[in-house]
Amino acid sequence: MTTQDVIAQYDRYVMNTYVRSPLVLVKGKGSRVWDLDGHEYLDLFPGWGVSGIGHCHPWVMKALRGQSTKLIHVSNNYYHVLQWRLAKTLIDMSFDGKAFFANSGAEVVEAAIKLGRRWGRTGGSPRYEIVVMDQSFHGRTMGALSATGQVKYQEGFEPLLPGFTCVPFNDLEAVRRAVTPKTVAILLEPLQGEGGVQVASESFLRGIRQLADQHRLLVIYDEIQTGMGRTGKLFAYQHSGVEPDIMVLAKTLGGGFPIGAMVAKRHVADALTPGTHASTFGGNPLACACALAVFEVIEKQRLLERVLHLGDVLLERLTAFRARCPLVREVRGRGFMIGIELSIDGQPIVDACRARRLLINCTQGNVLRLLPAMTITRAQLDRALAILEEVLMQHAAQGGATA
Ligand SMILES: Cc1ncc(COP(=O)(O)O)c(C=O)c1O
Repeated sequence: MTTQDVIAQYDRYVMNTYVRSPLVLVKGKGSRVWDLDGHEYLDLFPGWGVSGIGHCHPWVMKALRGQSTKLIHVSNNYYHVLQWRLAKTLIDMSFDGKAFFANSGAEVVEAAIKLGRRWGRTGGSPRYEIVVMDQSFHGRTMGALSATGQVKYQEGFEPLLPGFTCVPFNDLEAVRRAVTPKTVAILLEPLQGEGGVQVASESFLRGIRQLADQHRLLVIYDEIQTGMGRTGKLFAYQHSGVEPDIMVLAKTLGGGFPIGAMVAKRHVADALTPGTHASTFGGNPLACACALAVFEVIEKQRLLERVLHLGDVLLERLTAFRARCPLVREVRGRGFMIGIELSIDGQPIVDACRARRLLINCTQGNVLRLLPAMTITRAQLDRALAILEEVLMQHAAQGGATA
């Protein structure tokens, strides 16, 4: 079977909801993936950020194989030992509370919206409004989509879920103005990913926390992309130390296996009682075993230190490159979550990198996004940057069209 054959079968049988590159992947290991023809690629955007500890990490594979021979699924009408272990690990590593498990990012955003609304019915008249941020991204289900601050994803799916007020990111006064007697929560990514790799300022996070405490609001952090070490701390909010009341996680959490988690402070979590929320697959033994293996890898392989150190190297090198390359407007991000804003459309750069066997992403039309695996070697990172810089310099020399 050739790449063209596979694409033809997709065209015939798979719904056309994604913009796909003509690449059929068959194998992955660490930061490398292989296509149908045996070509090897360096992957600096592994699985949309899911393979944060690299493709097929041996410890995750071991957990997956071991657990799959014992018990794959248990209905949440019963107990199993891995779900509480994972919940405890999450709580030990973040803040005192309780966890709920689902299978994806959007699902735990939904769970957070529902929890916020339930909690908003405690102590006084019901509150349900949530302040959200421009350029945010929270997922494609109707609640998560309604919370997303990007009209392009919402068009054609109206009417949206009511109760979301969108304000500019990093604008505390705008958040303050948006709070009404019906507001129950403020939802944000501590570092926006899909929105163009935009870092929330520490003063913004502190201001939001104060505002929330003043008005008895919940702070909800969407750490689906930033969580599990991507920014050099286990959770991105830990850079500022400003705690949320609810945090949602997915992507890297399962090391490639689908899992989403919501962690909420104890008094908030208790607003959900038996029968009020559920997920058939959520927190099954296989998913929990994988997630526990991911925590072990991050700790024992000291990946946070690696990301902090190599992230600085990456940012410094790209910032120096910016001075040489007229196409680069800005380099920003934290740890292994880097955005390179270009003055041209980013897609031709992504395509040219792929032709050179390097996989990267572009968001918002002109922001190249790098989310390397935390296990990437220094040599792989250097090689990837060399390719990227060369491709950008070539486009600059050809007088790349301005975005
Ligand atoms: C910050 C953020 N929230 C939510 C989501 C949605 O996650 P999922 O695609 O697993 O539903 C994403 C996905 O990219 C994300 O980056």
